[in-house]
Amino acid sequence: MKPPESPETAQNIEDLLRRMTLEEKVGQTLQYNGADDDALEQLHNNHVGSFLHVMGEKLEALKEAAGKTRLGIPLLFGIDAIRGHGLWRNATLFPTQMALSCSWNPDLLEEVARITAREVRATGPQWTFSPQLDICRDIRWGRMGETFGEDPRLTGALAAAMVRGYQGSNLADEEAIAACPKHFIGYGETVGARDGTEADVTRRTLEMVFLPPFRQAVHEAGAATVMAAYNAVDGTLCSLHHELLTGVLRDQWGFDGFVVSDWDNVGRAVYQKQVCTSIREAGVKALRAGNDMAMSTKNLAGELVAAVTAGELAEDVLDQAVRRILRIKFRLGLFDQPARRGIDREKIRTVINCPAHRAASLEASRQSLVLMTNHGILPLAPERLRSIAVLGPNADDLFGTVGGWVIGSPQAEFPDAMHDRDHIVTVLDGIKARFASATVVHERACCVVDQRHAISGWFTQRQPGETTTPPEGGMERATELARSADVAVVVVGDTMALQGEANDRADMDISGGQMELLHAVKATGTPMIVVLLVGKPHTIGWIKENADAVVCGWNQGVEGGTAIAELLAGDFNPSGRLTQSWPVSIGQQPVHYNQAPGWHAPRYVDQAIEPLFPFGHGLSYTTFNCGDATADRTTLTGDESVTIAAEVANTGSREGTVIVQCYAAVHAPLVRPARELLQWQRVHLNAGECRRVDFIIKRDDFTFVDETGKRVPANGKAEVWVGLSSRTRDLNGTIVQLAG
Ligand code: NOJ
Repeated sequence: MKPPESPETAQNIEDLLRRMTLEEKVGQTLQYNGADDDALEQLHNNHVGSFLHVMGEKLEALKEAAGKTRLGIPLLFGIDAIRGHGLWRNATLFPTQMALSCSWNPDLLEEVARITAREVRATGPQWTFSPQLDICRDIRWGRMGETFGEDPRLTGALAAAMVRGYQGSNLADEEAIAACPKHFIGYGETVGARDGTEADVTRRTLEMVFLPPFRQAVHEAGAATVMAAYNAVDGTLCSLHHELLTGVLRDQWGFDGFVVSDWDNVGRAVYQKQVCTSIREAGVKALRAGNDMAMSTKNLAGELVAAVTAGELAEDVLDQAVRRILRIKFRLGLFDQPARRGIDREKIRTVINCPAHRAASLEASRQSLVLMTNHGILPLAPERLRSIAVLGPNADDLFGTVGGWVIGSPQAEFPDAMHDRDHIVTVLDGIKARFASATVVHERACCVVDQRHAISGWFTQRQPGETTTPPEGGMERATELARSADVAVVVVGDTMALQGEANDRADMDISGGQMELLHAVKATGTPMIVVLLVGKPHTIGWIKENADAVVCGWNQGVEGGTAIAELLAGDFNPSGRLTQSWPVSIGQQPVHYNQAPGWHAPRYVDQAIEPLFPFGHGLSYTTFNCGDATADRTTLTGDESVTIAAEVANTGSREGTVIVQCYAAVHAPLVRPARELLQWQRVHLNAGECRRVDFIIKRDDFTFVDETGKRVPANGKAEVWVGLSSRTRDLNGTIVQLAG
């Protein structure tokens, strides 16, 4: 999708560069928090070229002021529109990345990003800090819910789709915005799952796990920008990492956009990581490494000017960063007249949260839901139910429903408390609407976070209306309501205080009084359906054993409650499949499916090693069967492909979509994952229908990573499996010999 540089643009950039003063050049490499009071001053005094987290009148004022500066270089406004334009009041929210990834559907992700771009660009910003490509294998990490799960190929495909959706075929389109795959790199693998600590990854792990998704987003989908992570790799901070930012991103992958640091990476190099003694040193090292723009580092402007003047930073290096930033500004059409207009008020009225966007969000929610267990209770028969007790702290809680990166959530410094109440359909709202002929009663009963929790970190503030004090008598009322209802739907999970940036946890049990509530409801003997509204996997062994059904609802978009109620009523057939393995206990981690073989003991003495729910797991209201895998050739050489086929049958009584997964393992002289996802297909089958599903795999797709960290073709035996989850017993395999 990357347009070739027109000679005219290249000339315009060089023209501008020639006319810019040193101070103006430095300003282009700086991004400031537009929410700060001194934003206009920063523009005038330091020629700051980009602001983040500013919208509305303030954005317009900055834009206008930039137009009146000596060279009138337009500003680039960045925003965290990561699951819809969540920081704009009542914009269309979508489920989180973790939720959306369970669709395994790149087309859906592309559509989500396209809608997001349309809404964002109408309101002013032209750049989103999305998608998030971190891979994390420790569920304690607060930001796992922002990721696409544990698999590099799935992550890469979904991320590339989002980049295409944001950027369209021409960045200058009125409905396109620049994407920013983040956080480059290893941020999900930090020590102890504690945010921003060092990622202890080898060169081989980088190539096996972390780099491939970025390569797809950058090299194949043409992402305009990339964000450097907070952490260090092999001791060097990502923003100062020449080998990664220049060697890999630019030299190997041909990236010609720009790199922005994460929040104050340059400052942190001094006061937090203590690898530089001054921000001048850190700023110089960042630019030299290929980190073109510094996000939110105060007082850097003067230091960089001084560094160039003193000969500590070659002006060429600065010019290179400025050139890359200007290139994206030109590509976005910011120098053209219409794009320099203010906010498009008419468009805001017509696109923000319009019916078509809400409908797309509802469809996204449907595809994101995962039916984890079902002992025959689902779907419910709405016409036969007289009463439903909808219980639990997340049943009717806006933040519990949607999770992070929305106004009012800790990451957003916007004045509004939250999107409007009627903007978001909670599970209670959805059930009341869908089961209108039944009596629906509700009791919150307890809190997600209560006094038993010791919470540390930055984001410890409660959300509006959130309390750590359970409603008096709530548990007793909930038990009574459950006892006299036909069915209890208990909606439990986490909340913003327990997930998100710097909100890592030490245990992942369902918190607060929620387990007590579940035990009490269970004891009534009323059938119990558990709906989990969680950012990421939890340890839910008791719930799996004791609930009549478990639905993972994740954090949802504006229509999440509608989709969940529809699922309970059987209006659609769930098809979501997990993209992150759920461990039995926190100590069982990591349980990601693509581990290297080599256990001396294939179990703990006190626990099996099989996860509670494996990668790829998800149930349906019908049943599917996947037959034997067959290969159309036994030996593969040169640029040949092999077709791996399996008959997949819908053996139940209603139509449904199944995600058929194809995994492979190669023979190689180095230890490598015992199984890796190669491809998948969403297949829709009518009741009783059987279809052959083909996976065409190229010789080149059978690779391993060598000792220098390079991906090279494998030789010898390769095993390929087709099936309905990553678990061995759900897969059927065949052998192919790789030669030549
Ligand atoms: C810090 C976060 O790590 C990053 O994901 C985000 O985009 C920036 N802040 C800007 O808000």
